[in-house]
Amino acid sequence: MGCSATIALLPGDGVGPEVMVEARRILDAVGERFGHAFRTVDLLIGGAAIDEYGMALRPEDAAVAGAADAALLGAVGGPRWDNPASKVRPEQGLLALRKALGLYANLRPVTVFPALEDTSPIKQDIVRGVDILVVRELTGGLYFGRPSRQWRERRGRAAVDTLVYREHEVARVARLAFELASGRRRKVASVDKANVLSTSRLWRSVVTEVLHDFPDVELEHVLVDAMAMHLVRGPRRFDVIVTENMFGDILTDEASTLAGSIGLLPSSSVGAPRADGTERRFGLYEPIHGSAPDIAGQGRANPIGIILSLAMLLRTSLGLEAEAAAVEGAVVAAIEDGVRTADIAGSSPARSTSEVGQAIAERIDASP
Ligand code: IPM
Ligand code: MN
Repeated sequence: MGCSATIALLPGDGVGPEVMVEARRILDAVGERFGHAFRTVDLLIGGAAIDEYGMALRPEDAAVAGAADAALLGAVGGPRWDNPASKVRPEQGLLALRKALGLYANLRPVTVFPALEDTSPIKQDIVRGVDILVVRELTGGLYFGRPSRQWRERRGRAAVDTLVYREHEVARVARLAFELASGRRRKVASVDKANVLSTSRLWRSVVTEVLHDFPDVELEHVLVDAMAMHLVRGPRRFDVIVTENMFGDILTDEASTLAGSIGLLPSSSVGAPRADGTERRFGLYEPIHGSAPDIAGQGRANPIGIILSLAMLLRTSLGLEAEAAAVEGAVVAAIEDGVRTADIAGSSPARSTSEVGQAIAERIDASP
């Protein structure tokens, strides 16, 4: 029996709309080959929404996204909306969506495709076999703390951002990290800056307390500066990494170099399980790359980040495991067949965003 889910699509800015075209292509191929009737709703977010509505996300559109079974996002931001004096900024749309939908955990798997081991700028014997899941806290910390503003004083300008964490915010993301680790190699590295920050000392205590409920998970605490180094010196020893919002943002861009390109990495943002007790969770799925204004409109963006995000969506929010695996298999097959965008092409000729999307769509196989 086919699944008839509703998926909100938020292409956003820059390369966002280009990679979203490919995600749609994949969704159509999955629907056709597995007999599902997916319904999609298109919503504006980011600069595109600012141009149309004067704000980065209309509250009613956030509500539409939240009422869907899942949401898929491209990217937001760009130089056109970068004026520091401006009150409306594209990023506000994404932050508002995460907050409004209570998506407190952002899961960013970092794995290295065997066929791409030589694509990373990091040595092959360091990246081989890397399989990390970064769990980034997503609705707290510096991104949301108040006050956050600039002002003028007699001696010049000043600004403040607020880093605040509450126990329950740390506990719920730590719990999720331990649960996820239980289904993997049962190791969690919690990243903080406890030698300097009060929030990190709270973080460390709460994570250690939550560990009591997970006797077979092993926990280590790692300072964020040291983690920045370990990620490029010996990343293979990490299984699940859990950290606060901004550290997670920075470390995952760094970790993406292990995979070979930031254009490859997917993510899912999830909140509390649904009240009706079903296994399926609402989620917001997005590639971790940005809007890449420098290559926007040129057909050069790698669609794999959003396509793997769609695979996570099918698995986590729709419970379609075979479909998700078929999409992931098709991505591997296209990479192995050498159909690659410039960022991972190496010495072979670079293919366009849509050529790669088509090659992946063609390789989606419904036979188990
Ligand atoms: C990300 C992005 C966002 C973030 C920006 C666009 C607000 O960098 O998803 O990693 O910092 O969370
Ligand atoms: Mn980021």
